[in-house]
Amino acid sequence: MSRSRKPLLVFDSGVGGLSVLAEIRALLPTAPIVYCADNAGFPYGAKSEAELAARVPALLGRLVERYDPLLVVIACNTASTIALGHVRAALDLPVVGTVPAIKPAALASKTRVIGVLGTPATVRQAYVDNLVAEFAADCTVLRHGSVELVVLAEQKLRGQPTAPEAYRAVLDGLFGQPGGDRLDTVVLACTHFPLVREELTAVAPHPVQWIDSGAGIARRAAHLSAGHVWQDAPQGLAVFTRHDDSLVALRPALLHYGLAQMEIL
Ligand code: DGL
Repeated sequence: MSRSRKPLLVFDSGVGGLSVLAEIRALLPTAPIVYCADNAGFPYGAKSEAELAARVPALLGRLVERYDPLLVVIACNTASTIALGHVRAALDLPVVGTVPAIKPAALASKTRVIGVLGTPATVRQAYVDNLVAEFAADCTVLRHGSVELVVLAEQKLRGQPTAPEAYRAVLDGLFGQPGGDRLDTVVLACTHFPLVREELTAVAPHPVQWIDSGAGIARRAAHLSAGHVWQDAPQGLAVFTRHDDSLVALRPALLHYGLAQMEIL
């Protein structure tokens, strides 16, 4: 057993990684947490591959230098499916990525029609094609990319009201595709989306199971930090890459996830 104060660094473009943080906290309740939201680069889902492949490793390099974490969790499907290889090559510590939970979805589906709901950048990645070819070759896989749903999750966590029609319009893009009436399992392939699971459930045209990667990532982080003991959980720290007025409205949500301190990088 080694005692240390090194934190786990959890990274996303915004609040989406909090859905992963909740799972990590459940398994590693005493681990110190630095949660970084790259709000200056938000939304990642509308960015090009080249932009993200340059931005994410550079930013994580700065964060690692500053906070000296035990490991990094990229709690973002968009950043992981595009930049995970670049980040691992640039950093000299374990990096856990978040990729769409296509394998468990294919295992769970009875109708053999599954959905992948992610950001526009994620759903077009070759990484996703490969997951489908490897784990869901006998399934019809419907994909839909939505920036709107990411924005709805950001608004919800700032305490702003969001209307069911807005969620319904997003789901139309998935369930309205040929075969959508046979969907029984939908991968929430963006870490923002588990934050609005109830809203999605309420407007889905028929019941489906929603599957995300959060619990699997937490298990991986716990495995990689096995043998480590943290004495007591200090207050978690939320780091943003730029000041913006809406951060005040995020305070209650951050506190809910144990992030009592805030700083701007
Ligand atoms: N939370 C991120 C993901 O898992 C992306 C959100 C964004 O578009 O910035 O893909």
